[in-house]
Amino acid sequence: MDFELTESMTMLRDAARTFADKRLKAGAPEWDEAEAIPDEVYKEAAELGFFGLSVPEEFGGLGVDALAYAAAMEELARGSASLQVCVTVHNSLAAAAIAKHGTGEQKKKYLPKMASGEWIGAYSLSEPGSGTDAASLTTTAEDKGDHWLVNGAKAWVTNGGFASVFLVFVSTNKAAGSRGISCLLVDKGAPGFSVGKKEKKMGLRASDTRELAFVSAKIPKSALLGAVGGGFKIAMSQLDSGRVGIAAQAVGIAQAAFEEAVAYAKERRQFGKRLAEFQLTQAKLADMATNIEAARLLVWRAADLLGRGVKCTKEASMAKSFASRIANKACFDAVQIHGGNGFVREFPVERYYRDARVTEIYEGTTEIQSLIVAREVLG
Ligand code: CAA
Repeated sequence: MDFELTESMTMLRDAARTFADKRLKAGAPEWDEAEAIPDEVYKEAAELGFFGLSVPEEFGGLGVDALAYAAAMEELARGSASLQVCVTVHNSLAAAAIAKHGTGEQKKKYLPKMASGEWIGAYSLSEPGSGTDAASLTTTAEDKGDHWLVNGAKAWVTNGGFASVFLVFVSTNKAAGSRGISCLLVDKGAPGFSVGKKEKKMGLRASDTRELAFVSAKIPKSALLGAVGGGFKIAMSQLDSGRVGIAAQAVGIAQAAFEEAVAYAKERRQFGKRLAEFQLTQAKLADMATNIEAARLLVWRAADLLGRGVKCTKEASMAKSFASRIANKACFDAVQIHGGNGFVREFPVERYYRDARVTEIYEGTTEIQSLIVAREVLG
């Protein structure tokens, strides 16, 4: 693997870096308090092309390489993890799935509007009773000849409050288990489909996370993505790329915490010296820097395979597991270096600490990543 980004990859990474430094970093504390990101910020992200990263050029997107995507995702997360999760779920779990599995009609209908950011995508696998055990989902879709009749409830849906298209995983044949799961493209406003309450979260507070309800919802037959019974494989294979986006998010949060810790350690004086002069502080900073570098390399390794169309289930899980754990540790240490100041909202490390927590939970817990890696290495 070549670790040098090409000129176009560097340009994309730098555009994300500039947006993060000039816009996201300054706004993030206020958006965290308000538990929402202003519409104009989504518009600016759309104008910069971030909602079209995974959409092929023929449908108006940028169709960027997975490595460039990962580098850009890290930078966005360094600025605002809440904005980044909106962008990465839209791209890697929703738009990329439609680009890969959609019919010509579905691609024409959704992709140009998703590329421009006019329509935001969401991915809905989890339910109140099924998270880690994703295949045990109970939302049903009955074939009624001219439509699907959908009943059930979904949980933890990122972008739920403003998405226009939802990839909803449903059971079309209970007896067939994971092979009886199908994927439907559900449009906002479909009859019988409603978006529920916004979750009040510990971290990523400015991202929009919702429940969904389907009460005898009538969804057109044309909404099927892929084959009947092929939904679980779509869900799992998209999570391979989704996990690269979340691993990049973890690296971005860790990097942000590290930068704050370095700046604070150089400034703050105790016992007549700057914190940076104490070896116990230096050891923490050295570990953070090393772990971030190692995590970034794992993310790039998985992204490189993904970009070349090579199966990367194991590498994506390794990257997600390692990056999310080191992000939590980096944020813990950044708060520790800040002392009491790290415990209050005036200092961004307090938010990074809260934002990092979910990276070990969503898109598969750390325990599930271990299970996936163990299955792969044991054969
Ligand atoms: N790619 C393609 N196919 C895959 C696959 C992959 N990565 N992983 C599994 N499959 C296929 C298997 O080959 C198998 O196919 P066959 O029936 O043809 O043999 C089928 O899927 C079932 O696989 P398993 O037997 O491995 O399934 P399982 O029930 O044991 O579950 C699991 C495996 C790894 C535990 C899975 O359930 C899992 O990943 N759980 C975590 C769920 C998760 O990550 N949820 C995230 C929610 S989304 C979210 O957080 C988004 C957000 O908004 C931020």
